[in-house]
Amino acid sequence: MSSLSEDARRQGERVGLTADTIVIHGGKPLTGRIDVRGAKNLVTKAMVAALLGDNVSVLKDVPNISDVFIVKGLLEAHGVIVTETGDGELTFDPRNVTSAHFAEIDAHAGSSRIPILFCGPLLHQLGEAFIPDLGGCRIGDRPIDFHLNALRAFGATVTKLPQGIHLTAPERLRGAHIELPFPSVGATEQVLLTAVRAEGVTELKNAAIEPEIMDLIAILQKMGAIIWVEPNRTIFIEGVDRLGGYTHRAISDRNEAASWASAALATKGDIFVANAKQPELLTFLNVFRKVGGEFEVFEDGIRFWHPGRPLTPVVVETDVHPGFMTDWQQPLVVALTQAEGQSVVHETVYENRFGFTDSLNAMGANIVVHQDGIASITRRVPHRKLEQAAVITGPTPLHGADIRVPDLRGGFSHLIAALAAEGTSTISNVGIIARGYEHFIDKLRVLGADFELAD
Ligand code: EPZ
Repeated sequence: MSSLSEDARRQGERVGLTADTIVIHGGKPLTGRIDVRGAKNLVTKAMVAALLGDNVSVLKDVPNISDVFIVKGLLEAHGVIVTETGDGELTFDPRNVTSAHFAEIDAHAGSSRIPILFCGPLLHQLGEAFIPDLGGCRIGDRPIDFHLNALRAFGATVTKLPQGIHLTAPERLRGAHIELPFPSVGATEQVLLTAVRAEGVTELKNAAIEPEIMDLIAILQKMGAIIWVEPNRTIFIEGVDRLGGYTHRAISDRNEAASWASAALATKGDIFVANAKQPELLTFLNVFRKVGGEFEVFEDGIRFWHPGRPLTPVVVETDVHPGFMTDWQQPLVVALTQAEGQSVVHETVYENRFGFTDSLNAMGANIVVHQDGIASITRRVPHRKLEQAAVITGPTPLHGADIRVPDLRGGFSHLIAALAAEGTSTISNVGIIARGYEHFIDKLRVLGADFELAD
């Protein structure tokens, strides 16, 4: 696997960002209009789903982010013809799927965790699949045991090799009864992408029901799948012999929308996020309002702005949908450094997602991370073993600093902090941000940020 900084640079270059560093002169409110397109966490999975069909699929509103290029490279390595057929429109022809050499898979995958979702479709198409060492954002151990156990339940044989994991299925995979220990997004997608063409019925208990998963189910249904979403996080999938292609417009990126909303709050700005959708952001909007942020929902997007008076501290617990998403907490924490009093953020999904707060403290924030979480009588989400809590005491003026971006959401929060801070900040490794934020440099320009790019 390549080093993290090489990987970050490659991610940026894939979408035309050649600079490694952004020098930000902060203290200016971000104001203006930007748009968000299809959700990274749906689009990449929808691209994998195209592998399952015996016909062409068309995906619309695909953002220009490097995770999309990673999946495109992996699909092409397996013989899928991927064509750009319009602005943000990709067409996939899976009619000649072939095996790829593990070195090729490894080269395309870089630090991404996406290859694991290729397993089910490739087992159906070719009877074998290979997963290299998996990376993704450094936000905890991020094991793949749920995925491998589910694949074994379908009848796949899993062999660990020095280069990664080899899976085989000499016979057609069979439907299975699977109960996830936690409603994992990726493992739910794994089960869906495998069960749709397995023989017989699959019952999945304790499934994740994020909006991106519902959109993936809609895509699979368009392809010919039969999927029943039942109460209490149970999903039944009746396997079918073949699937066709799909034409689909991706659900909009609620994580990117929430990030720009927090940027408006942290910089005392006013941002209209075109294509932001209220239904997928209900929980975020409640918290945004409780902090004191103002918003107005329009037909074509949501306007977010700072109220011009002091912000209010809040207690937030991250959770699976419909709870407060773990990906929303990092940008929000930056805004909470400006609230008057003590806020608490309990991270209940990942065991290590507050690493980004060290840099915020270096910029003048007062954030104490409790590695084993902290007790609270108001907790709603059950306490998990691997838990952290951050106590943020504000308001603390932020000042410029030199920061190296650690991961996608942490990196975006560093950008926001630098934009809110007085003075100049130098932020390196920004290629990582291109994994999930389309044209973020252009958007910063449109919003009036004062910065220059450097190598
Ligand atoms: C998806 O990751 C998203 N990534 C994440 O977004 C998001 O934070 C996460 O879901 C939660 O919503 C993509 O969709 C590409 P999980 P995923 O499986 O599927 C544990 C971003 O910044 N677990 O729901 O990998 C795991 O360690 C990214 O956009 C196991 O123990 O998340 C974690 O504690 C970051 N064993 C929890 O489950 C497994 O086999 C939730 O992970 C799998 C997961």
